[in-house]
Amino acid sequence: MTKIYLGADHGGYKLKESVKAYLEELDYEIEDFGTDSDESVDYPEYGKKVGEAVVADEGSLGIIFCGTGIGISIAANKVSGVRCGVCNSIELARLGREHNGINILSLGERTAFMDDPLEIVDTFLNTDLDQSERHERRRGQLV
Ligand code: RB5
Repeated sequence: MTKIYLGADHGGYKLKESVKAYLEELDYEIEDFGTDSDESVDYPEYGKKVGEAVVADEGSLGIIFCGTGIGISIAANKVSGVRCGVCNSIELARLGREHNGINILSLGERTAFMDDPLEIVDTFLNTDLDQSERHERRRGQLV
């Protein structure tokens, strides 16, 4: 089964814990880079750690969390080979996978969701990349 790397700052810590418990129930292999409390930390460190882990481990995926999902996604996207998107809906998670081939999903705990975050996670984990030539070509330019 796909290995999932997790990471969050204090602004996304609680949502990370919920998603982690959900993934454990589903028997996913997980590596959690923290943070492990709501004590203030800096999100760039956690985005970078998850980004590097996903790129180093072919076939793995990442899920990261901060207050908005934005800061930690910027940090992850600095790692070459990462394609991370902030998704607050099932539709964005599906299209992010199909078209953009996101390998890291970012969620913003302090923002509004259009769908249940666990359903967004499910969609991210269970949607394959669209292999049509135009999407392959565009993804190939994202290096
Ligand atoms: C932390 O206060 C907050 O800035 C962070 O979680 C995130 O929202 C940054 O993008």
